[in-house]
Amino acid sequence: MEKFVINGGKKLYGEIDISGAKNAAVAIIPATILAEDICRIENIPDIRDVQVMVRILIDMGATVRYINSNTLEIDTRYIRSFVIPYEMTKYSRSSYYLLGALLGRYNYAKVAMPGGCNFGGVRPIDFHLKGFAKLGAKITNDNGMIDAEAESLNGNVIYFDKVSVGATVNIMLAAVKARGLTIIENAAREPHIIDLANFLNLMGANVTGAGTDVIKIRGVRSLHGCQYSIIPDQIEAGTYMVAAAAAKGNVLIKNVIPKHLESITAKLRECGVTVEENDDSVRIISDTRSGSCKVTAMPHPGFPTDMQPQMTTFLALSEGTSIVTDGVWDNRFRYVDQLSKMGASIQVEGKAAIVTGVEKFHAAPIRADDLRAGAAMLIAGMCAEGRTVIEEIYHIERGYEKVIEKLRGVGVDIDKVDFPDDDGKKAVNNAG
Ligand code: EPZ
Repeated sequence: MEKFVINGGKKLYGEIDISGAKNAAVAIIPATILAEDICRIENIPDIRDVQVMVRILIDMGATVRYINSNTLEIDTRYIRSFVIPYEMTKYSRSSYYLLGALLGRYNYAKVAMPGGCNFGGVRPIDFHLKGFAKLGAKITNDNGMIDAEAESLNGNVIYFDKVSVGATVNIMLAAVKARGLTIIENAAREPHIIDLANFLNLMGANVTGAGTDVIKIRGVRSLHGCQYSIIPDQIEAGTYMVAAAAAKGNVLIKNVIPKHLESITAKLRECGVTVEENDDSVRIISDTRSGSCKVTAMPHPGFPTDMQPQMTTFLALSEGTSIVTDGVWDNRFRYVDQLSKMGASIQVEGKAAIVTGVEKFHAAPIRADDLRAGAAMLIAGMCAEGRTVIEEIYHIERGYEKVIEKLRGVGVDIDKVDFPDDDGKKAVNNAG
């Protein structure tokens, strides 16, 4: 079993280049289905979630050519399958975007309920399905296979009870070729929603309002191929910002859109970390123990829930008591048990964690429970004295491109080690 081994306690110095945004890529790749043409997408992160999505498209009959590891040419003219079984969807949450994309192109889709990060609770898709129904699709759930079918899709007003990134994306995909006007109210405003809208418009769609809470989509008859470059990953950038703040040092994080990082920058500054903003980079300077703060994860432009575990880890080493609340997911503090093994003092009460900062962590065998929990474990390992072994690292590799190279580039002593199963257990137990 492959694990990360970190010899922690070193300050970070140097530069990190940020990759393209995972959550934009996993929406834009299925959106190419709507083009019925050839699209060239640049700045795609070379990560497992993208590889899974590409595999699904190839199995559906698309031709995908790697121009290089971050540029793909996707030809969706000859797609021949509308049925996506669980074997294909179980590895990635975003496979549910195939419902919107196939429905938008063929008025028909049959897609298994998705896998991907589950934070220990349910991740419903009822908003997506209600939205499709409002556009005129008949939805049935046949033993975990969602079947969506419409004679024709017709624009409508769709209001979400709660802001949902996935439902906003899926309705955008289904509505671009529907008849008439679709209005999404209480839409998600994340940077990747704007990125998807820009991509759809470049293919000939008519989407306005992305980035606000009302998105209007006027259906067009057909779309065409285009060339597009994906925005930098807000969460990858934020993860390295918080890592540098926690482990201390001086790190320049390049190829970012500083505006997307504002909520993270604000919280780090509040804790006493120096964050310098440039046109397309941010520098983190951290040399003394940081202070505490109150963080509430909320939909964009609030503090991102996908940064909540990393920020909690940083605060667990800061001076004073912090309160972290997750206003998006009900159950996203499972990783706290792992931090406790390293000496963190965190009390979870429902959707909030009371974090009493400790001076240091000690190395321990820990586990990546999901993608962002895994990012938090990396930060914890970097800050702990001694040898930390992290298992279930495939979660981390789903979303962070070249994570070892990037961390080594700023001085982290990290290795990926393939432990034979039995010996592996021994190695983890002995770690730290
Ligand atoms: C997206 O998930 C991201 N995934 C998640 O990032 C992220 O945590 C989340 O948005 C919130 O920002 C991708 O973009 C692929 P939601 P999504 O629909 O779309 C409730 C990562 O680490 N809800 O915005 O699945 C839901 O339970 C991943 O990169 C319903 O009740 O999240 C949650 O409380 C993990 N019914 C809230 O809305 C629905 O039909 C927001 O979920 C849909 C959602």
